[in-house]
Amino acid sequence: MNIVITGANRGIGLELAKEYKNLNWNVIGTSRNPLSSTTLQEEIGMENILPLDISNEESIDSFCKEIKITTNSKIDILINNAGARGERGLIEIPKQTVMIDTINTNAIGPTILLKTLKSSLANAKIAIITSGMGSILKTTSGDLSYRISKAAVNMAGRNLHMEFKRQNSIILLVHPGWVQTDMGGDNADITVEQSAKGIIEVISHASKDNSGSFVNYKGETIPW
Ligand SMILES: NC(=O)c1ccc[n+]([C@@H]2O[C@H](COP(=O)([O-])OP(=O)(O)OC[C@H]3O[C@@H](n4cnc5c(N)ncnc54)[C@H](OP(=O)(O)O)[C@@H]3O)[C@@H](O)[C@H]2O)c1
Repeated sequence: MNIVITGANRGIGLELAKEYKNLNWNVIGTSRNPLSSTTLQEEIGMENILPLDISNEESIDSFCKEIKITTNSKIDILINNAGARGERGLIEIPKQTVMIDTINTNAIGPTILLKTLKSSLANAKIAIITSGMGSILKTTSGDLSYRISKAAVNMAGRNLHMEFKRQNSIILLVHPGWVQTDMGGDNADITVEQSAKGIIEVISHASKDNSGSFVNYKGETIPW
């Protein structure tokens, strides 16, 4: 069984790669720099790491061609985990370049990736790692680029759910919790192990009945 995890070289993605490997999945992880992803190499083997910069259309295109060969066009689970944080907090005027990069990485890239891989994702489970910070109802001020990007990817996931359900793909938008990673920081609520185990459980229970929903790593629904 093939699982593809983007941004698998560190943080939540690395832990997901380790855990799925322990569950005997054929894990294909992506990294912007496979050669320097030494921990991921130790976990899944260099041959299972493919280069992907999800903010770059050419990189997505090359990756999709490669992954179709590697998996014989049969992906069972895809976790789009790669993500960028953008500017932090409340700042006067966010930089346009930062906003574009964040939205590109977190929303546009994943959308193009899933559309390009559509035929290989028939009957697959797809988890888009989003954030509670993408909830419009629960928003507070600041972190504009990140919040906009995650609200956007929520719309993309919901939209693609409507399209992909015709080929029995299941799509979930999953908030991983506030997690102790480079992005989440040391004061975050939970460890990567807790987050990854929760996400794996949520994916294993995903069905066509809850496809298209926005949930956290405990499977609880988050308001849009
Ligand atoms: N940690 C939290 O508290 C938290 C909370 C809510 C949601 N999330 C979401 O969870 C996911 C994983 O976060 P994390 O905490 O594990 O973050 P992290 O430790 O900062 O890791 C981010 C991962 O994404 C990759 N990445 C960034 N930009 C990329 C690009 N353009 N193309 C390909 N890969 C790229 C990074 O690769 P490089 O090593 O090359 O930079 C790295 O592998 C993200 O989508 C994040 O938004 C995290």
